[in-house]
Amino acid sequence: MNVTRDLFNEVMVPNYNPAAIIPVKGLGSRLWDQAGTEYIDFAGGIAVNVLGHCHPELVNTLKKQGETLWHLSNVLTNEPALRLAKELVNVTFAEKVYFANSGAEANEAALKLARRYALEKFSEEKNQIIAFKQGFHGRTFFTVTVGGQAAYSDGFGPKPGNIEHVEYNDLAALEALISDKTCAVMMEPLQGEGGIISPTNEFAKGVRALCDKHNALLIFDEVQTGVGRTGDLFAYMGLDVVPDILTSAKALGGGFPIGAMLTTTAIAEHLKVGTHGSTYGGNPLACAVAETVLKIVNTPEVLNGVKRKEQLYRSGLQAINQKYACFSEIRGKGLLIGAVLNEQYAGRARDFLVASADEQLMCLVAGANVIRFAPSLVIPDEDIQQGLVRFERAVAKVVNA
Ligand SMILES: Cc1ncc(COP(=O)(O)O)c(C=O)c1O
Repeated sequence: MNVTRDLFNEVMVPNYNPAAIIPVKGLGSRLWDQAGTEYIDFAGGIAVNVLGHCHPELVNTLKKQGETLWHLSNVLTNEPALRLAKELVNVTFAEKVYFANSGAEANEAALKLARRYALEKFSEEKNQIIAFKQGFHGRTFFTVTVGGQAAYSDGFGPKPGNIEHVEYNDLAALEALISDKTCAVMMEPLQGEGGIISPTNEFAKGVRALCDKHNALLIFDEVQTGVGRTGDLFAYMGLDVVPDILTSAKALGGGFPIGAMLTTTAIAEHLKVGTHGSTYGGNPLACAVAETVLKIVNTPEVLNGVKRKEQLYRSGLQAINQKYACFSEIRGKGLLIGAVLNEQYAGRARDFLVASADEQLMCLVAGANVIRFAPSLVIPDEDIQQGLVRFERAVAKVVNA
């Protein structure tokens, strides 16, 4: 069969508009399309491929598990799921783990748990959820409504209720809204899709204190920041603020779909048998791969490498900016980096993305004003350097057009 980009329009639901090329092979931080054209990957499958494409240890794990046991469902538990849960408990604040298949599903579980916890422990009236403008938590109806862009949840009929939003980094706004009727505050410990926005330390600590004051659970959505992305295993560790519930996905599977919700025993016990579930949650293939991802990422070599590589990006992007004066700021943490367009180029992040693809470089946007980089955490320094050369050519094209 002749597989072309046109086939997408013919047979796929039109909710995406993928690029014109179709990648057919990946290795490390390189990708090749059907014509054999090679690309450097600064996008990492939207912050997923933390160990690049086809990392040999992940391939081996998947092959081995693939020849052993694929799927059982939740009627039976399995060794990879239990080993992964034990490891997540060992390396985080958490005492209990729930497995899902995606970030949205992990967040859905977190939100349902928070509501159930408040209802059982306090009262039916304690059901308000507070989240942040520009926040992103997934596309299920509950998570997209908790997300901070109404445009994503509008147009689907009545929304889940009692969900409020305040500005990120505005502690006073949160303080004005939060009350004993709040059951949870959900936040990303660095807003990704919303534009690569770091919380101030005062804000992060203040949110924790307000949650404590009002017996509200603090949910950290670490779907994008978790598993090494910021240079800490989880971003909460770098902020020195411990959430009550944490969600992880994306990087956790290194490209194999998995999500996880982590929490304490006291909170977890409110999701009793039969209250929530997923056929595939804890799938042996996914959990085996994630176990290997975690083992490799949670090493000083990889985590320190993230911090060092961040500096390569920052100095390279600053050098480009000195020549072309198109960014107002380079921001983010670890290998979740945003180049913010200045006023002259406001709203044109997509143009830079398209120009980059023309120069054989894959990158991302985070809103209309920010070019986002979320490469493999083990991207070779030469690939960063070469990718930045390509990016400079893309910037020159846009600026000189
Ligand atoms: C912070 C955050 N939460 C949740 C999600 C949703 O994850 P998924 O697409 O796996 O459902 C994303 C995806 O971009 C995300 O960045």
